[in-house]
Amino acid sequence: MNRILGIETSCDETAVAIVNGDGEVLTTEISLVSSQIDVFKEIGGVVPEVAAREHMERLLALLERVVPRDGEGIDAIAVTSGPGLAPALRVGVEVAKMLAWSWKKPLYPVSHLEGHIYSNWLDKESVPAFPALCLLVSGGHTELVLMKGHGDFQKLGETLDDAAGEAFDKVASMLDLPYPGGPAISALAKEGDIKAFDFPRGLLDRDDYNFSFSGLKTSVLYTLRDREGELDDDQFRKNISASFQEAVVDVLAKKTERAANVFKPASLMLTGGVAANESLRERFFELAQRFNIPLFIPDREYTTDNAAMIAAVGYMHVHAGKNSADPKEVVADSNLSFYGT
Ligand code: KG4
Ligand code: ZN
Repeated sequence: MNRILGIETSCDETAVAIVNGDGEVLTTEISLVSSQIDVFKEIGGVVPEVAAREHMERLLALLERVVPRDGEGIDAIAVTSGPGLAPALRVGVEVAKMLAWSWKKPLYPVSHLEGHIYSNWLDKESVPAFPALCLLVSGGHTELVLMKGHGDFQKLGETLDDAAGEAFDKVASMLDLPYPGGPAISALAKEGDIKAFDFPRGLLDRDDYNFSFSGLKTSVLYTLRDREGELDDDQFRKNISASFQEAVVDVLAKKTERAANVFKPASLMLTGGVAANESLRERFFELAQRFNIPLFIPDREYTTDNAAMIAAVGYMHVHAGKNSADPKEVVADSNLSFYGT
């Protein structure tokens, strides 16, 4: 039971992968991602029903490139069953159910967020030691998680409003930058002054591990409104980007540091689409050094949505002796939680 097929359709990336496991070491045999970014670039966000239609068109074509029609050589199937956009999730879940049923292979519904965490086990020479402190930052989620063992997760905190990636996307849209906004903002920020604007650091004075980015977003909006005449000034845009990015990164790093002081983790993890951010990565390298613990960040192709991370969770379920699901009972759950299991 070592060769796992992963299927992911929770948002705007259709993805299929095969992962091979040997003990705790996971090797990606193949990982294909068909991104719908071009479809949603114009709109500036994802439309669930449109994403679902795109998944339908793309998923079978990807599967055809990865597995034989009879599923030979595949030991189990793992599919993202949540959280995510319900119509999009349903496409992957229904296809996976049919495959499991017709191939007579075990099916494991898995959490997309657990997938982001397990992307740190893919193609690595060493794996995170427990307890591991993990910051999961994507377009839909911002969560600080204490992983005490395999499948044993405690949520320490989460965003009370926008996700970090969402904040990047919204500020990018205010600056008329393309979607997704993270890469565009971070490119501008490189040549900007982080001290040009003193943007608010949400909830930093509160003694918990929750985040809030809506005040920051509003503050950027008001600054742009007050100084509308400068919107075409390159340096102004770079300074806004740099100061905004610094405010996000600062809060993420300081809250993680606070948790590290309390929970004394044996390793640190950064994962999700925003983990591609250079400035955030740098702050995490410093943090890991200060606490003298190893830092794990997935390889770039696994920071954003992919199916290898989903296959990785499926493998871990198999490895832990978990029962597979009855395909008839597997459903997409847009609010699926992976805590407290
Ligand atoms: O994990 P992901 O691919 O999708 C979700 O599950 O949400 O994350 C996508 C998010 C987007 O909001 C995008 O703007 C952000 O990750 N992102 C970045 C960077 N690259 C991608 N944010 C900041 N800096 C980046 N370099
Ligand atoms: Zn994701």
